[in-house]
Amino acid sequence: QTIYLKDYTAPGWLVEEVHLTFRLAPEATRVLSRIRFTPNPDADQGQFFLHGEQLKLISASIDGTPVAPDISEEGLTCAVPDGAFTWEAEVEIAPAKNFALEGLYMSSGMYCTQCEAEGFRKITYYPDRPDVMSVFTVRIEGDTPVKLSNGNPVASGEGWAEWHDPWPKPAYLFALVAGDLINHPDRFTTMSGKDVELNIWVRPGDEGKCAFGMEALKKSMKWDEEVYGREYDLDIFNIVAVDDFNMGAMENKGLNIFNSSCVLASPETSTDANFERIEAIIAHEYFHNWTGNRITCRDWFQLCLKEGLTVYRDSQFTSDMRSAPVKRISDVIDLRARQFREDNGPLAHPVRPESFQEINNFYTATVYEKGAEVIGMLKRLVGDEAYSKALDLYFERHDGQACTIEDWLAVFQESTGRDLSQFKRWYSQAGTPRLHVSETWEDGTFTLHFRQETPPTPGQPDKAPQVLPIAVGLIGPNGDEVQETTLLEMTEAEQSFSFSGLGARPVPSILREFSAPVILHRDTDNAERAFLLAHDTDPYNRWEAGRTLAKQALLRMIADGAEADAGYLGALATLLADETLDPAFRALAMALPSEDDLAQTLHESGHVPDPQRIWEKRQEMRSAMAEAMPDLLANLYAAHQVPGEYQPDAGPAAARSLANSALALLSRRDGGDRARAQFAEADNMTQQLAALSCLLSIEDGQTELKAFYDQWHDDRLVMDKWFSLQVAYARPDQMAATTERLANHLDFDMKNPNRFRATFGALTMSPAGFHHASGAGYKLLADWLIKLDPLNPQTTARVCSAFQSWTRYDADRQAMMREALERMAAQPKLSPDTREMVTRILNA
Ligand code: ARG
Ligand code: ZN
Repeated sequence: QTIYLKDYTAPGWLVEEVHLTFRLAPEATRVLSRIRFTPNPDADQGQFFLHGEQLKLISASIDGTPVAPDISEEGLTCAVPDGAFTWEAEVEIAPAKNFALEGLYMSSGMYCTQCEAEGFRKITYYPDRPDVMSVFTVRIEGDTPVKLSNGNPVASGEGWAEWHDPWPKPAYLFALVAGDLINHPDRFTTMSGKDVELNIWVRPGDEGKCAFGMEALKKSMKWDEEVYGREYDLDIFNIVAVDDFNMGAMENKGLNIFNSSCVLASPETSTDANFERIEAIIAHEYFHNWTGNRITCRDWFQLCLKEGLTVYRDSQFTSDMRSAPVKRISDVIDLRARQFREDNGPLAHPVRPESFQEINNFYTATVYEKGAEVIGMLKRLVGDEAYSKALDLYFERHDGQACTIEDWLAVFQESTGRDLSQFKRWYSQAGTPRLHVSETWEDGTFTLHFRQETPPTPGQPDKAPQVLPIAVGLIGPNGDEVQETTLLEMTEAEQSFSFSGLGARPVPSILREFSAPVILHRDTDNAERAFLLAHDTDPYNRWEAGRTLAKQALLRMIADGAEADAGYLGALATLLADETLDPAFRALAMALPSEDDLAQTLHESGHVPDPQRIWEKRQEMRSAMAEAMPDLLANLYAAHQVPGEYQPDAGPAAARSLANSALALLSRRDGGDRARAQFAEADNMTQQLAALSCLLSIEDGQTELKAFYDQWHDDRLVMDKWFSLQVAYARPDQMAATTERLANHLDFDMKNPNRFRATFGALTMSPAGFHHASGAGYKLLADWLIKLDPLNPQTTARVCSAFQSWTRYDADRQAMMREALERMAAQPKLSPDTREMVTRILNA
């Protein structure tokens, strides 16, 4: 069943207040609801309908009189009075049997909830749509020592606790947690002097992994006050770590629930990358308190209203806490890897989709990451000051409302006087624009000629030109910048921009800071790329120049077996040796374009990528890198060892990332001696895992792998790493077999999404193994997705997207992938979630 944005109608009834009582029991929890409904004066009432799925209705009444509603799979209808009335119901649910992890479920003996997007309807009958906002009072009865819900605690006694959330909210922000939990407490004083109690709740044994998350939370609270003027609005803020969780984390009002992998951190068990990600996710969920909770979405088509903006805010936060250029480069790598792949395949959809079957399938890189890019472009176009003014107006005007993208754009339009009707296409047009550029030089005038086009995407054959903010600088022949960064605003399909009064022909630095999410096509040569790599003042474009050099070199190796390009290796060595450059930047420059990036690029230029050959040539390039600069690598490794106690901060993390990038290359020549020594000495997970990876990548390290297991087999999060590492570093021809062996390991549990993703996600993210010519990867993945689907449709549907680029490949691989997809589609009881994904992918 497809739902369309254009069919939106306002709710017939509003909810004044809601009281819920939970009588917790694993197999038979009773949920009692008392809901005050009033007719919506701005809408036709129509038939009274409450969502409800997989509920056993025990009793229902209206204004105290028992009623017998008509019940279907989706909910119930009932005759109701004309005016306001009170609905009461009691339902029974079985959290211990809920493996879909949506609604109320159990994880390691703890009760917890996940209601976004449409999970509340699995808890009780309710108008489960974001434009129905209400004040919740919740009573929890049960024998667990800790019982939490949204808002502030009001009262508690032996076996019960009551919570009241004064802020009206949609049901998707409801949360309940009950279990044997320990808190890591702290406090925060807000800018107006209000004292807030903070807690991170974990299972006993994990209390030593909370301190970093708590610091991140306090930094986020402070940052949102300073940068956006947003203050926290309850007496208490709780975070809970849960082992079984479909996504990263959830911003429930006053009670954020986190996948334990996104909050628990310790030097011994978490890598630098884990620390950075945890800090960003804590910030993200906290920032939702204003962008998501106080101002929420009218309907799920507007998901990017809260997600795009909140991702944008968390990226600003990370840029402020750490290195802004490094954050930008990492975000672009991620955007190209996930969002461009999506935007250029069968799953392409606009940032604001116009239809869906299962909304959970639209928590995508396009809605989140492209949604954030769109906000970055808007800010660049209107300027920082106008952006702040527009945001102030947004918060002031829409606080307490459920809004749309139109509301969002209107505050910018009104506060800047700018017409944003063309800009709005970024929300409605799917696909990645291609931006072609050529240059002319005449009489001291340098002209850039741009042409934009966006290829067709499913359901959108014709595309109109979009507003492209193109940040450009010009570098003179001696390496000096002759034109500092200026913003060109392209609105036409073809447009030229001139710079006059120049003494000599400059080299343009185009799309600085990646100012628009487009694919830039520009005919240039390696000499110019090397020149930009050496002289560009924009760190992003500097990195991009090196990236393009690497890519060109790899593409030539792939196309005709060329040797690794000496020019590239020389330019890279110069950059790596430049001690004025941030080590994190140098580590990024040393990383080659991914196998999938190369496959995307080959496909873009009309070739059929061969995953095996791409893998081999990347390996060959890495060997050539190791050969070309052995002393430099050894020096980098030695010079960037971090002495003393482990600190997860950006500085030491950057040093480690450069040292470990060097180690990976050095290991190809030293037989793994350095890595073995590092593994033996490591007192933190970053060093330990990097060393183990180096050893596995040279087909060594079995002893260390065993030692790693013995040391960590009781730590779930570290064991996830043990699973993914073995898959990721398996030889392509053995990867499917390795994955299968691990999936049958005693420590494998497909009901745990982290473990499933650690294992199968590692397979799908390793193109040479997943796309191995035998087809074993496809078959194995389909087998296991078919097994997982009846338990957990959401995670199954997500992992399905591994097949989205199937039409890129050769006929044999296409046939095998099609067969795998069709085998899934033929499962009679396939979930609607997975069916939608498989169908969209097959319709490519
Ligand atoms: N709103 C959450 C976040 O981005 C994501 C939760 C989505 N969950 C889901 N099952 N679709 O912070
Ligand atoms: Zn979010």
